[in-house]
Amino acid sequence: MAATRLVLTDFRNHEDAVLAPGPGFVVLSGENGAGKTNVLEALSLLAPGRGLRRAPLAEMARQGGSGGFGVAARLGETDIGTGTQAGAPERRLVRINGATAAATSLAEWVSVLWLTPAMDRLFVDAAGERRRFLDRLTLALASGHAHHATRYDAAMRERNRLLADDAAPDVDWLAALEARMAEHGAAIDAARREAVSALAERLAAQPEGPFARAGLALEGWRGDADTLARELAAGRRRDAAAGRTLAGPHRADLLVTHLGKRQPAHLCSTGEQKALLLGLVLAHAELVAERAGRAPILLLDEVAAHLDPGRRAALFARLEGRGQVWMTGTEPGLFEAVPGGATRYHVADGTVLAE
Ligand SMILES: Nc1ncnc2c1ncn2[C@@H]1O[C@H](COP(=O)(O)OP(=O)(O)O)[C@@H](O)[C@H]1O
Ligand SMILES: [Mg+2]
Repeated sequence: MAATRLVLTDFRNHEDAVLAPGPGFVVLSGENGAGKTNVLEALSLLAPGRGLRRAPLAEMARQGGSGGFGVAARLGETDIGTGTQAGAPERRLVRINGATAAATSLAEWVSVLWLTPAMDRLFVDAAGERRRFLDRLTLALASGHAHHATRYDAAMRERNRLLADDAAPDVDWLAALEARMAEHGAAIDAARREAVSALAERLAAQPEGPFARAGLALEGWRGDADTLARELAAGRRRDAAAGRTLAGPHRADLLVTHLGKRQPAHLCSTGEQKALLLGLVLAHAELVAERAGRAPILLLDEVAAHLDPGRRAALFARLEGRGQVWMTGTEPGLFEAVPGGATRYHVADGTVLAE
């Protein structure tokens, strides 16, 4: 899976950038603030969700531009476009081969996964960040995951609102919402568990190498649709008092341990945590390529700069021939050891020039 053409229109500091990268490594270098991460963010919008910065859509439209933005990509035979229009800066439009589509359906066409400096704190952050990370991993293995998550969240919000507003809420309506939550919640939980166990198995079977191996476990709620429906029905009064739903897969957490050190990830050094995350993402990309028969597009923002030359070379070697891998850095020299055939761009002040 590779974007062979990428056009950014009024996307952040890129007024009109056109890229025609090859299918393997794509290197973006340029000084701080040039617009490298912005290109990766544009690519991350080819997946369902809010992209790698989790920013509001209105923020992405170029200041001084038309008010909307566009990201268009060609992937194999498929044209994917997404963006906003001036009158509705928070409404994301998606087109697949020219036809309007739901953002959740993007997962059927392409998998995009990223590693950014902001994720350095993933193991010490609140559970929500890890859950989102886990959901991205899961989505690449189960394309219906985003659909279930959207439906589950919508039903939960509606249930919370009903419990908060109504002294005597409509019991049939509540039960219908809970049935919807149960159906989609069980699917979410099952897909996550499958992803975690496949990935954990793969990591455990790997030899010790330059990237740390993670042990993985899903913690928090577990059960099937019937259990969840029962728990929700029994928890109405409690949830009304709390102002939120206290049981369900939206409370899960991904527990990560450093297998070599037998340490929980959050106790590892910053460098060890980075290595764990990188090892995890690499193993996941390989798993997806094997399962889906198509490698995900990998976005590695400022990853190379933090690796010693030996690990950097090991990273390039491991990713060679494994689909499209976008890498950014301030120094082109960081990417000297990237194997031949890479597409190299120099990014400066919102322009992207092929080298
Ligand atoms: N909506 C926007 N319109 C215009 N410029 C923007 C917008 N959002 C961010 N920028 C600019 O983009 C630049 C940051 O780009 P970024 O891709 O993060 O740089 P880097 O090359 O360091 O990764 C900053 O100068 C920022 O002001
Ligand atoms: Mg950047």
